[in-house]
Amino acid sequence: MKIVNTIQEVRDQVKEWRRQGLSVGLVPTMGYLHEGHKSLIDRAVEQNDRVVVSVFVNPMQFGPGEDLESYPRDMDRDAALCEKAGAHLIFHPEPSEMYQKDFSSYVDMNTLTGGLCGKSRPVHFRGVCTVVSKLFHIVTPDRAYFGQKDAQQLAVISHMVSDLNFGIEIVGCPIVREEDGLAKSSRNTYLNPEERKAATVLNRSLEEAQELFLAGESRAEVLKERICQILEAEPLARIDYVELVDWQSLEPVEEINGCVLMAIAVFIGKTRLIDNRIIEK
Ligand code: PAF
Repeated sequence: MKIVNTIQEVRDQVKEWRRQGLSVGLVPTMGYLHEGHKSLIDRAVEQNDRVVVSVFVNPMQFGPGEDLESYPRDMDRDAALCEKAGAHLIFHPEPSEMYQKDFSSYVDMNTLTGGLCGKSRPVHFRGVCTVVSKLFHIVTPDRAYFGQKDAQQLAVISHMVSDLNFGIEIVGCPIVREEDGLAKSSRNTYLNPEERKAATVLNRSLEEAQELFLAGESRAEVLKERICQILEAEPLARIDYVELVDWQSLEPVEEINGCVLMAIAVFIGKTRLIDNRIIEK
């Protein structure tokens, strides 16, 4: 497995693979890789001849006061995980390689990005769409892999790829959880032991709402209230949002009809965590 830092090196390598008739999968990440990322790499290795993992903490998707500086980084660990999982190339650029001094072109979307995480993170999806578009142009993969934990991101990128005719297959992969149900996230490392325990409330609240739904409740308001009740009972938790939205349009629903995304964002102490479940009728 090779680690490269420049766009030209990626282009040269992909060109050579293409010359050999090989297919290419891309797993875009911000590093500090965990089992969730590994499941994306595993799937990419299954489905492609060659796999590129990008490791880039993208400054453009962080708002003022967010955790850009403190975002965890450990390239040696990431490289070991990628190698073990069977990736072929890591692209690990500096911000100056991705954003030249006079950078001024953006990819933005005026649907799907206004609600959920977009409400409290107004610049986030513009940053994500821009960097993912750049990675798609640099790597030109056949397929790209994204986790279902960032469900809104998955919806936004799928929509962007269709709008802009990227001709890349977007593969969404299931959430990977710790044994106690907490969704794996690089940001879990911010939690102290007490917060880590409290953080299980996210999964628990969604699980209970899902059970209520399976028992026959289909009013979104009632399911939402149940989630809020459970979250509010945890003293270390502060709700950012709890929403039940249509999984296609991401618009709020009143009744569960078709595929509905139950999505939550919750501060545990200072750490903002997200989780979700899809329910279907
Ligand atoms: O999900 C992430 O880690 C990031 O948003 C992504 C897709 C790598 C873009 O920076």
